[in-house]
Parts: sequence; C-alpha cells; structure tokens
Amino acid sequence: MGEMTLHLDILNRKNIEDALNTELIGRGVFELHDTIDSTNSRAAVLAREGAPAGSLIVARQQTAGRGRQGRTWISPPDAGIAMSILLRPEIPLTRLPLITLATGVAVAQAVEALCGIQLGLKWVNDLTAGGKKVGGILAEMPGQALVIGIGINLRLDEGSIPDDLKNRIDWLENLAGKPLEPSLLVAEICRFLERQYFTLLEGKSQAIIDSWKHYSVTLGKEVMVISPTGDNARNISGRAVDIAESGALLIEKPDGTRVELSAGEISLRSIDGSYC
Ligand code: BTN
Repeated sequence: MGEMTLHLDILNRKNIEDALNTELIGRGVFELHDTIDSTNSRAAVLAREGAPAGSLIVARQQTAGRGRQGRTWISPPDAGIAMSILLRPEIPLTRLPLITLATGVAVAQAVEALCGIQLGLKWVNDLTAGGKKVGGILAEMPGQALVIGIGINLRLDEGSIPDDLKNRIDWLENLAGKPLEPSLLVAEICRFLERQYFTLLEGKSQAIIDSWKHYSVTLGKEVMVISPTGDNARNISGRAVDIAESGALLIEKPDGTRVELSAGEISLRSIDGSYC
C-alpha cells in the first residue's frame, strides 16, 4: 500500500473568486501574490495610484509583513492568511478607529461560520484563542484611503516556532483539528467584513461595538496599559470596563476614576504580565 499523503489546500485565485459573495470587496483590483513584501504596502501603492474601493490584495507569503507599533509580522509560505483591503470611506474621522473593531468582528464571524472555531477579540486589534494570539489587524491610512490588513495563523509547523512564542501563539488548523481551505476563508472574511463596513458607513457604531463585545476577551479584565516609549509614568493599571462610542477602551482605576484610551501607541497586558 502506498503511503497516505495529506492534501493541503493553498490559496488559489479561482477558488477565491468562485466563493466570493460580495458587492464591493474583491470587486476592484484583485491580486494574489505568491510572495510580496507586505500586502498593506502593496495596497498603499495601489491607493496612491487611484485603485478603487474594494480592491483586495492577498499573498501566500510576505517577506516584510508589518504589525502594529512597528513590529514585524511573519508570514512563511502558505502558513497563514495575509490580506489587505483598500476602502475609501466617507465618514467622520472620529468614527474611523471603529474599523479595527469591525474587522475583528468580521474575522471572528467568518472563522466561526467556516471553521466552527470561537475566536476572542483582544482590544484593539488581536484575534485570540485560549489566551494565545491567532492573528491581528493593521489598519493604515495611506493618502486619503483606508487599508485594512488582516494576518491569521493558519497552519504552522510546530518545530519552527521560536521557544519564546510557543505558549503565546496558536493557529486555526490546530484549533480545528483538521485541514482548512484558505481560499474559502478569504472569501468568507470579505463577505463578513463588507457587512460590518456597510454598518459603519450607516453610522451604526453601537451595533459594531455590541458585536465586538460578544467576542471580547478584554472587558472585565484587570489590565496594564503599556506605552512603548518605555515611559513608566504613563503606564496605567485598572479594569477594562467598556468601549466608548469612538472605539476607545475605558479603564477604571483602583480609585474609581476612568480613563479613556485610544488605540494609538499603547498595548495591553493582563495584570500578571501575560499576553491576554
Ligand atoms: C498585529 O497583530 O500587530 C497586526 C498584524 C497584521 C498583519 C497583516 S498580514 C497582512 C497585512 N500586511 C501586513 O504587512 N500586515 C498586515
């Protein structure tokens, strides 16, 4: 008997197109790259060249993927979803930060619908499961446009994960216990993201926040706010109690006063220093 080989699906343009059930997202420019520096950087170039809203850039591998706060996002070949969507929303700037929360909701909904996995959302841009990071969102504004970047760990080779990350990251196929079809996931994310985006355009901020709260792993937790400038004086501890209409996080300090944090230059840790 021949050895059984496991067939793993890889991203494929036709499979994405066939599954795409959207009006806007994926209907402008659509590029699928075998390898690229960063899908967000590519979307920024396209944005400056005037590419239409809804343009979609997907890559099987990134060589210079970027995360929040100047971090690197590692995208080995066919190990994850790396995608960027170019949008041109005409809404007040104050409402824009909600797009990161809305995208988190869309990804969680898509993963739930397609893979049967419940993801958690850690304010402001992290996708988590069981206290580990599974993915992240990077929203940027090149020129007058909005680029939403989504990175998700799909299939990782356990041996290749650096020791210091082993307890901190997880991936969808590990959580699902079976192979997943990445092209279908891309299409499903586009569908759910489009819904959330239209909700944002309609001004229904509270609907986005309520959906985000459903997946939140942040609210109710004691958290430490870390400012990457290393300025300890600005570090705050308290309980994460609510999300403001702008998408900001409300922290209640031990003395009962509340502070409102916008995403900007901060990151959150659990009070014991763990990731979430
Ligand atoms: C984070 O967790 O800090 C955000 C990670 C965002 C990574 C994605 S992968 C697709 C897109 N292109 C990039 O260079 N970054 C985003």
